[in-house]
Amino acid sequence: MSGGDHLDFEIRPNPAPVSDADRAALLASPGFGRIFTDHMVTVRYADGKGWYEPRVEARGPIPMDPASAVLHYAQEIFEGLKAYTTPDGGVAMFRPDANANRFNQSAARMAMPALPVETFLQSLHEIIKIDRNWIPEDPEGSLYLRPFAYASEVFLGVRPANEYLYLVIASPVGPYFSGGVKPVSIWVTPDFTRAAPGGTGAAKCGGNYAAGLSAQAEASEHGCDQVVYLDAVERKYIDELGGMNVFLVLDDGSLITPPLTGTILPGITRDSVIKLAERAGRKVEERPISLQEWREGAASGRVREAFACGTAAVITPIGTIKSEDGDFTVADGGSGEVTMAIRKELVDIQRGRAEDPFGWVHRV
Ligand code: PLP
Ligand code: COI
Repeated sequence: MSGGDHLDFEIRPNPAPVSDADRAALLASPGFGRIFTDHMVTVRYADGKGWYEPRVEARGPIPMDPASAVLHYAQEIFEGLKAYTTPDGGVAMFRPDANANRFNQSAARMAMPALPVETFLQSLHEIIKIDRNWIPEDPEGSLYLRPFAYASEVFLGVRPANEYLYLVIASPVGPYFSGGVKPVSIWVTPDFTRAAPGGTGAAKCGGNYAAGLSAQAEASEHGCDQVVYLDAVERKYIDELGGMNVFLVLDDGSLITPPLTGTILPGITRDSVIKLAERAGRKVEERPISLQEWREGAASGRVREAFACGTAAVITPIGTIKSEDGDFTVADGGSGEVTMAIRKELVDIQRGRAEDPFGWVHRV
């Protein structure tokens, strides 16, 4: 972190925050991404000026000109991470520096200016400090932080914008899947792909998610919780889910997961799972996994468990896989032992309940 990147945020407290009673009622069953805290962070950018006007202010609508570039060409990126209350009464974030770095990788792909890592971290500290009383105390709850940036320049030409707005909003959340931690079903979309080589698959940009909505709707029509994408070239290999990476656990206790070749998001949970599994002496292979290998492995017993992982979903067992070529389940379709052990280890570190061997936990 260079000292020159430190910004002095102007704090403008919300004059009409949600009352204690209303907040308690909202926190009783937050769901996912439905309720929001009293404040937001905003920082502006202009070419030649850099990042300026860092502020914490009341959360509210952002005035937007109809010719704002983002509304036309979708120059937008975002991140997602969580803050937790810890047993000692403190607050911790999980690997926010990794999110800061990925934010800048996404920015580079979308021809947007980099945001100094220190500004990113400061912005998270500021919103957590002011909205501390919105973090759920529930053991499954957390404060989901959503930093994002978009092209705010008023201009219809197709080129990288000269002006951007960076914001952070915060949402108290419970489990991403409404059933809590129970196996989910996934639909292998035959119609859609998520990202081709050279595309934006490794960037966390809104456009990737817009393009995935039809596939997710298709999954819902087939009674599935999530969509899983095959690679765009051979339509054979597993890429990832709409909002999560995938792991399989084999009968020798090793883990396999698709490699980072630019078409999938380099998940921070994925990276954490690899490091935790390797530390526990498990072999982890990052290599292409065909749908056929998964199907045959599930039938023969070679594939014992499968799980999805991501900030929102944490680690969620995958029970049933549905596709046009027929459905199959992994083992008995339940929650695997290795999956649940890795989940517990990860969550205990994230929530400050276990030793943090990799220095991942960032105290606020
Ligand atoms: N893949 C996609 C498409 C995602 O949206 C996410 C969620 O952020 C992930 C994977 C998992 O990434 P992470 O573990 O960093 O949350
Ligand atoms: C996250 O896990 O942070 C995501 O952005 C995924 C989305 C499905 C909520």
